[in-house]
Amino acid sequence: MIQDDVLINDWHALARSSDVVPEKPVAARLLGEDLVLWRSKDGTIHAWRDLCIHRGAKLSLGKTNGTTLSCPYHGWVYDTEGRCVRFPAHPEQCPPAKAQARVFRARERYDTIWVSLGQPEQDIPPFAEWDDPDFKAVVCGPYTVRAGGPRLIENFLDVAHFPFVHTGSLGDLEHTTLSDYTVEVTAEEVVANDITVWQPDPLGVGHGAYMHYVYKVLRPLTAYLAKQADDTSGLALLFTITPVDVDHSLVWTYEATTTLEESDEEIIKFQESILFQDIPVVESQRPELLPLDLQAELHLRSDRLSIAYRRWLREKGVTFGTA
Ligand code: FES
Ligand code: CO
Repeated sequence: MIQDDVLINDWHALARSSDVVPEKPVAARLLGEDLVLWRSKDGTIHAWRDLCIHRGAKLSLGKTNGTTLSCPYHGWVYDTEGRCVRFPAHPEQCPPAKAQARVFRARERYDTIWVSLGQPEQDIPPFAEWDDPDFKAVVCGPYTVRAGGPRLIENFLDVAHFPFVHTGSLGDLEHTTLSDYTVEVTAEEVVANDITVWQPDPLGVGHGAYMHYVYKVLRPLTAYLAKQADDTSGLALLFTITPVDVDHSLVWTYEATTTLEESDEEIIKFQESILFQDIPVVESQRPELLPLDLQAELHLRSDRLSIAYRRWLREKGVTFGTA
């Protein structure tokens, strides 16, 4: 397991709820730890270390049976608490307390399974629009990226790249100038309330306009953006990165919109096209680890939000994916 107390004690999106069914276990990986996810017949989700205590086989290769998970190698049977309850080679023998899988916390929210490897002090990141009846919400992802989480979050917070990386969709090469904005930092979050960007056709009416966004960093690897309230149509995104390994992430985008005529497929296709433009650029960044020493890279006024993010990570003591 990668030793980063902040991330170990946070919640991370691991799999879509619909991908973990009672019929079979699923392998996952978080912070360098191989996990098995499985669902018992009452619907409860279990997240354990993917390792049988007998000879170290992967439990994710095993079988579920309603209320048990059994190992693929010698068939040891584990109950929903992770206790081994049966050795098939010696059915008369009562397994000792040591015959126990390592169990982690798992919960479901936003049609997603969230896991914490530690003792979370906070809840799963908030996304109020998910439950708001005026919005429809869609899960996009997960997408695998060969880059570290902090570089990906910083990319989400960065609007100066829109004209260059997302030419014609999120930005326009004729409008590269950025106006100043302010950033507020608390122990809980980093907030930029007034980010203004020129977008080619943000309202779908055939002409460009300045759009105003609120950006928030909610967790080291979770950020949020919303159109400002004075806008006629609502849009909010929750963006979270699963830290698989230091150089390997899953990207999840949860979009909530009041533009109800857009189909789920159209929303997913659009978010995907944006992410696929970002991926080669973020994967190319060196060093791969996000430098928290502000002397290490050059910064402009428009980088104020990413500077605040780097400082905030440093104050929290996040070491994962940073240098
Ligand atoms: Fe799992 Fe032997 S390794 S039962
Ligand atoms: Co981008």
